[in-house]
Amino acid sequence: MVDTLRQYIDSNQKMFQKLMTKYVLTLDIPEQLRKSMLYSLEAGGKRLRPVLLLASFEAYSTEINKTYSSALALEMIHTYSLIHDDLPAMDDDDFRRGLPTNHKVFGEATAILAGDALLTYSFEIIANDPLLTDKEKVYCLNQLSRASGPSGMVGGQILDMEAENQTVTIEKLEKIHALKTGELLKFAVTAGAYLGNATEEQISHLRDYAYYLGLIFQVQDDILDVIGDQEKLGKAVGSDESNDKSTYPKLLGLDGAIEMKSYYTEKALTLLEKANAHTSKLLELTNYVSERDH
Ligand code: IPE
Ligand code: IPE
Ligand code: MG
Ligand code: MG
Ligand code: MG
Repeated sequence: MVDTLRQYIDSNQKMFQKLMTKYVLTLDIPEQLRKSMLYSLEAGGKRLRPVLLLASFEAYSTEINKTYSSALALEMIHTYSLIHDDLPAMDDDDFRRGLPTNHKVFGEATAILAGDALLTYSFEIIANDPLLTDKEKVYCLNQLSRASGPSGMVGGQILDMEAENQTVTIEKLEKIHALKTGELLKFAVTAGAYLGNATEEQISHLRDYAYYLGLIFQVQDDILDVIGDQEKLGKAVGSDESNDKSTYPKLLGLDGAIEMKSYYTEKALTLLEKANAHTSKLLELTNYVSERDH
């Protein structure tokens, strides 16, 4: 990876980490709930979604403090989705971000509630951000709730569960991936650009770009579940096979999945150019998402 991109990701990872911890520490809440929320938030993770939101904003503007509430909210919602995704009733996984999963440490009831708490607190953070206008708050809250709810991540997660032990079409698989993973990445890219005052036309091109970025991200996640290194990933490999999930490698084979990823990457990069954001960090981040090993 290009050095400057590594530095960009590392420094922003640290900043977002500090901010998330600070926001949870300000709450007057039961200690066990706080511990469980902080356990998953502080376990690490790439922080790709807040970094993408920031990079998208910086393609058009400089006043980065305006991105913090949406970026934190997004990472909290992503973290909640992981806590619930790992539950026995869903993927039943024991490791996440290099540590035992939340329910393994705190029990299922607390893990469910920590997820619920991260989800709802994220909207409170945006609603209370003094740096955003009312219009910006409504935009971010509307887009984020849509991306994470029944028309977005939650909808995709149920399709993913329903597609276990099934052979689905490539169109159906694309839909599952676009919803369960793509919608939150789309929020990162479009909300960043919106807050950075990108034009409607630019945001529309970015929305199309992010659709493919989401697919690239999840295809690579599926590939890493087959050939990845458990240590680097911080989660078990082979989880998809043991749950008989519908994935790109299952449907197309490993080589077919890698070919699809190249096709999606070409599409994404062409659309990024149209949004006048091709000189930005988004270009490097796209290649990173496609080539990542964790
Ligand atoms: C994992 O996301 C879940 C998917 C949507 C595939 P990440 O790979 O971004 O997980 P962290 O945040 O780095 O742990
Ligand atoms: C999960 O996809 C997407 C979410 C909405 C959490 P996966 O189930 O493939 O994610 P991992 O592999 O457990 O991180
Ligand atoms: Mg899953
Ligand atoms: Mg999973
Ligand atoms: Mg996976």
